[in-house]
Amino acid sequence: MNKQWIKHSAAVLGLIMGATLGSSLVNAADDKFDDPRNETFEANHPDQFHTWKATSESSELEDALEGDPNMVIMWAGYGFAKDYNKARGHYYALDDVRQTLRTGGPTDENTGPMPMACWSCKSPDVGRVIAERGEDGYFEGKWARLGAEIANPIGCSDCHDTSTEEFKNGEPALKLTKPYVERAMTAIGKPFEDMNRLDQQAAVCGQCHVEYYFTGPNKSVKFPWDMGTNVDEMEQYYDALGFKDWTHGVSKAPMLKAQHPEYETWRDGIHGKNNVVCTDCHMPKVTKEDGTVYTDHKIGNPFDQFEDTCANCHTQSKDTLQGIVSTRKAQVLNMKLTAEKHIVAAHFEAKAAWDAGATESEMEDILQDIRHAQWRWDYAIASHGVHMHAPEVALEVLGTAVDHASDARTKLARLLATKGITDPIALPDISSKEKAQQALGMPMDKMNEEKQHFLETLVPQWEEEAEKREATY
Ligand code: HEC
Ligand code: HEC
Ligand code: HEC
Ligand code: HEC
Repeated sequence: MNKQWIKHSAAVLGLIMGATLGSSLVNAADDKFDDPRNETFEANHPDQFHTWKATSESSELEDALEGDPNMVIMWAGYGFAKDYNKARGHYYALDDVRQTLRTGGPTDENTGPMPMACWSCKSPDVGRVIAERGEDGYFEGKWARLGAEIANPIGCSDCHDTSTEEFKNGEPALKLTKPYVERAMTAIGKPFEDMNRLDQQAAVCGQCHVEYYFTGPNKSVKFPWDMGTNVDEMEQYYDALGFKDWTHGVSKAPMLKAQHPEYETWRDGIHGKNNVVCTDCHMPKVTKEDGTVYTDHKIGNPFDQFEDTCANCHTQSKDTLQGIVSTRKAQVLNMKLTAEKHIVAAHFEAKAAWDAGATESEMEDILQDIRHAQWRWDYAIASHGVHMHAPEVALEVLGTAVDHASDARTKLARLLATKGITDPIALPDISSKEKAQQALGMPMDKMNEEKQHFLETLVPQWEEEAEKREATY
């Protein structure tokens, strides 16, 4: 920790302590400074830094809604219907959260649709701000409130205690950098400090590659793991709480949005059960020409480094294993589309029932079926890489999604008949992303203009402010 930072943080602490004397602030005074700037660590750890930086080579943006416009309908009334791209390299996490239409076009610190929580898995500045201001001091308010504070993409201080001597000397020194993650791991009986090395390696990924929701007055992040981490247990948890992420724009069902429960589905898959962890495949140890070994930080597709990943444990050829994985991918995709066909139809049939005068009590049970069907579909498909990590889990969960959706549709057919409607309900043209968004009456031009304005005005201000602050570290 350098002197300037001590000066800077002491000044900030002094200011805040005058107003509040929260315990987290007192703790913050003892906390060492984990520099959020990845470049700081290049000189001491060039191999790790350069491979980390190579995540920028995964730069392709792929529009997931264009590829599957059903999803626009399934997320009607919610941000994901605006746009949703497939994941790319960690290096782009900050750019992507600024650029997505889901975060809207804030014009100042109090506007914009999303809460602060939306920064939580994008940047090592999040851990820094929590250490400086406490959790409430980080979470409160709108997403744009601390835009200038969140300035570096996912990196070293997200997974490491970078201020320790251990880390400086080249030891891994893994760390969970967010208190809400520590609490979640403890809730499933795995406090970080009691974990063995393999568990810790998986847990650093489990800081972000998980299911979570926003709760309380400050919309803080919580993982819904109090009853367990499988699809049934999390569903029970949300139901018991009466929680919903949003009300569906077509069917009015109280919906859940699954985020990306990769950690949870990996645990239930064959590798998770055999203690083969994320890093065994996504961050292999590699040997340099001079015989020294380091951990490859270019997190991406493990097949690109077959010899250092799968081949460490398997004798099959790359073609054989890749063939198995792509067959499973096709099977999961096929079930995904089957579930979507029924869930999309159920949303429109529910709308037809409302339009025909159905009552709340006639609809309640049906809407619950739709909620459960879509939650299950989402749990399976939002677990990126699930066809590799736990294909049997994905197929089973998608099977139950189809089951719940057909329950809803059977009940809807009966209900519609009592209202004199016996013909099939016609669907609008949703054959492309644009047509599906049109069918929902979404003002896409306006959203794009607001986003553009935000990127041209507020973002440069944030960057300037961040640069000034970082010059004092
Ligand atoms: C997503 C989490 C993650 C990020 C981000 C990350 N690391 Fe690591 N790092 C790991 C893991 C996991 C290991 C291996 C731990 C083990 O072997 O137990 C590791 C190991 C290391 C080691 C120990 C030596 C070695 O190569 O095994 C160093 C040094 C290191 N990382 C530096 C960095 C630097 C510098 C950055 C930023 C440029 C960074 N790490 C970013 C997870 C991360
Ligand atoms: C601080 C949060 C965070 C941590 C920690 C984290 N990730 Fe990620 N990861 C993300 C986000 C966010 C994205 C999507 C980035 C984007 O598309 O802009 C992502 C993307 C990925 C991708 C897709 C990369 C690509 O090129 O398509 C893989 C694979 C991945 N992460 C694996 C891991 C593994 C394995 C670990 C642990 C070693 C890990 N992540 C730790 C947040 C995190
Ligand atoms: C046994 C090896 C293995 C383990 C263990 C593993 N993965 Fe993966 N993962 C893969 C492979 C291989 C792929 C790519 C599959 C493909 O090519 O279709 C992948 C894909 C992904 C993706 C999707 C990337 C994208 O761009 O769509 C993410 C995210 C991811 N893994 C994260 C994790 C996390 C987090 C863990 C631990 C909780 C983990 N993985 C454990 C092998 C593994
Ligand atoms: C650290 C060791 C390890 C690594 C690395 C590893 N595996 Fe495995 N794999 C296992 C173990 C253990 C099993 C389960 C026991 C068995 O069937 O041999 C398994 C099982 C499998 C299975 C059969 C299980 C099933 O679902 O039917 C496939 C397929 C597989 N692995 C593919 C891969 C691929 C692809 C990679 C690289 C991306 C990989 N594994 C990396 C250890 C590993």
